[in-house]
Amino acid sequence: MPIPDTARVAIVGAGHVGSTCAYALLLSGLAAEIVIIDSDRSRAEGEVMDLRHAEPFAHPTTFRTGDIEDCAGAAVVVLAAGAGQGPGETRVDLAQKNARIFRDIVPRVVRSNRDGILLIATNPVDVLTRLSLKLSGLPPERVIGSGTILDTARFRHLLSQYYGVDPRSVHAYIIGEHGDSEVPVWSLANIAGMRLQDFCVAQGRVYDQPAMDAIFAETRDAAYEIIRRKGATYFAVAAGLMRIVETILRNQRTVLSVSTLVSDYYGLDDVCFSLPTIIARAGVVDKLRLDLSEAEVAKLRRSAEVLRETSARIND
Ligand SMILES: NC(=O)c1ccc[n+]([C@@H]2O[C@H](COP(=O)([O-])OP(=O)(O)OC[C@H]3O[C@@H](n4cnc5c(N)ncnc54)[C@H](O)[C@@H]3O)[C@@H](O)[C@H]2O)c1
Repeated sequence: MPIPDTARVAIVGAGHVGSTCAYALLLSGLAAEIVIIDSDRSRAEGEVMDLRHAEPFAHPTTFRTGDIEDCAGAAVVVLAAGAGQGPGETRVDLAQKNARIFRDIVPRVVRSNRDGILLIATNPVDVLTRLSLKLSGLPPERVIGSGTILDTARFRHLLSQYYGVDPRSVHAYIIGEHGDSEVPVWSLANIAGMRLQDFCVAQGRVYDQPAMDAIFAETRDAAYEIIRRKGATYFAVAAGLMRIVETILRNQRTVLSVSTLVSDYYGLDDVCFSLPTIIARAGVVDKLRLDLSEAEVAKLRRSAEVLRETSARIND
């Protein structure tokens, strides 16, 4: 079996998300070679030219444009091709549109690269992760959606602002769908191992549930607010994609909330959604089966149901 080149990353879709991911990878110095592929070749060429000019300020990195077949040999293939949700467009409309694109590109990616990891960013990301798993025939360990990595980051950021600590010291996860039905795991949220309620007592403050509910609502609705103001979101998701690529290429075994195939978890099977997951060189090492409260399990079941309904609407 050919060993994928740990220094090469391919990105399919050079729009806001794909090109910002390439930029984050350049600044990180993680990849020696980045291949940028887009059905709009001129766009991909423009992005590559612009990225190359940043190289002297960053790390030696070879950029090139190519066709889907140039995913060959990449350790990770990032899929960021396809549209975002337009005004008045439903989640199902978007799923149908982007599923058509994935039915074209995923089999071609896998024909040229059977050994790399597919990292999906395109929305609806959970539904497209499951579709990619089926279209590719790859083992579930090697098909990963960015899932709620972004929502978890937003959640930790807002909690850190509220509690006045570094976001890296806030351990709190959003699980389930990357979207409206996502679930905040309040029962396990902590700062330095202290439950939020205990942290409040220690700090001489009162635990304020309505304030926590507002933080979750702001987390869940952040994309709408950003899209209303600037048309798209891409910096934070690109940083998240870079972080996933880093744990893969450096075999770091980082726990990240990403979307992968779930089986036998509170009776949920054959659906892709996010749980904290250990990711390393070979992809998924383990999906952590959090011990949830009853209310959280009910919300997660609802989230899985929403995903199943959307998958059914695209005949997956
Ligand atoms: N997972 C997340 O957390 C997250 C966050 C933000 C955006 N997104 C999603 O990422 C996707 C991309 O968003 P964007 O803002 O970069 O969109 P964009 O419109 O800026 O870019 C999409 C690119 O895909 C290209 N493309 C379309 N069909 C293609 C094909 N068949 N082959 C190759 N390239 C193709 C287009 O030419 C375009 O350059 C959207 O679905 C968006 O909803 C996901």
